[in-house]
Amino acid sequence: MSSKVNVTRRGLLSSFGAAAAISSISPAPLFAQPENTGPATSTVADRDRRMKWWHEARFGMFVHFGLYSVLGRHEWAMEEEGIPVAEYQQLAKVFNPKPHAARAWAKLAKQAGMKYMVMTTKHHEGFCNFDTKLTNYCAPKQAAGRDLVAEYYEAARSEGLNVGFYYSLMDWHHPDGARCADDEAARRRFVDYTHGLVRELCTNYGKLDILWYDVAWPLSPEGWESVKMNKMVRQLQPDILINNRAKIPEDFTTPEQHIQAFAEPWESCMTMNDSWGYQAADDDWKSPKTITRNLVTCARGYGNYLLNIGPKGDGSIPDESVEVLTNVGRWMDKNADLIHKAELCKVRSSNFANFTRTGNKLYVHVHFWPGQTVAVGGLTNRVLSAKLYPSGQPVQFHQEDFRVQFLGLPETSPDPLVSVIEVECDGEPNQDTLSIRKNRKREGVGI
Ligand code: GLC
Repeated sequence: MSSKVNVTRRGLLSSFGAAAAISSISPAPLFAQPENTGPATSTVADRDRRMKWWHEARFGMFVHFGLYSVLGRHEWAMEEEGIPVAEYQQLAKVFNPKPHAARAWAKLAKQAGMKYMVMTTKHHEGFCNFDTKLTNYCAPKQAAGRDLVAEYYEAARSEGLNVGFYYSLMDWHHPDGARCADDEAARRRFVDYTHGLVRELCTNYGKLDILWYDVAWPLSPEGWESVKMNKMVRQLQPDILINNRAKIPEDFTTPEQHIQAFAEPWESCMTMNDSWGYQAADDDWKSPKTITRNLVTCARGYGNYLLNIGPKGDGSIPDESVEVLTNVGRWMDKNADLIHKAELCKVRSSNFANFTRTGNKLYVHVHFWPGQTVAVGGLTNRVLSAKLYPSGQPVQFHQEDFRVQFLGLPETSPDPLVSVIEVECDGEPNQDTLSIRKNRKREGVGI
């Protein structure tokens, strides 16, 4: 797997508990233990109904946009640089993105083969990108003079994308945001404020598909009154999906900056460089191939990939992100079906390929093309036929005890990113590489 395991203090803070923190540092098991125990404020049956579109969608765009986008030094600048609140909030007087910047985000998402978006309505900095009656620290009452969440909502919907709202519970600006931990009157005020903002978000825009909470510092789920809050959310938005970061398990688990398959619904969120919010000097961009491989890894484990862009203060998307997503989009133009229709795949082992599965068909996604012969070890099924995907051009194959070889292939990779061989098997594809080590015949070995 090419994604990095990156356990930062932020990562740990944002996890909903110790179990999540541990799972992100231990080696990835075949399919991880359930992390979510089912929705706290709904039922598994209702979750299956509500999540159908999400499982098929597989690929979404995360958007981190706020006052930090003007600074261009990462969305944690306010805390990491110790910027005083009075100084930081001056940014609200200059944050004024060009009108309808979100339309370009939504177009790019669609072009990349993404099916939904999740945008920061309020990040840890406390600034609300949306219209609210509860604070003046919001886009319509500051330089922007308009509701940026409304623009985003309209943009996503007009591209046919589903809409998610990210909402940070932690708040570095609100006077009660830290003292609520040990001052009951402050907690009461801050929880009322929080529930009030969430209510506005769930009321003022029409149908909402995802509520994506983040960092529940400094309160416990009881302190946040998370169950009550999510019951309210479901009452206002009966079909909504809610993540696990209000410290109660709901519809899906959120591994961050790494990919790990869970038995319960999961979505891996990831940056394209090392920053969520715009950071001008961050040049650690992942390649289009890495992103494509990550998407395939998510699809293999029946999970989703939420890939981030961090627009600049004027709302424009960094060129590098456009370039990556345009390339991934070209690959998706040919291969989207394999991603959207992927079921859990038990075949995983190769040093040059990855795998997805639909029914009895195994798709070998070759990212390091070895030449005319591609071999897979330990497949426990009989191969019935093989083709190049999507051309359908037949591929010869030879199968023996522990190996299947696909022969007579082009010398160079048909696709610049990841080339696919479709392999029809006589049952659900499975792989046992340990049996190769244990049982491969050693007779006749002369030296
Ligand atoms: C972490 C970071 C935050 C980012 C989020 C995305 O919690 O604190 O900046 O929004 O991850 O998952």
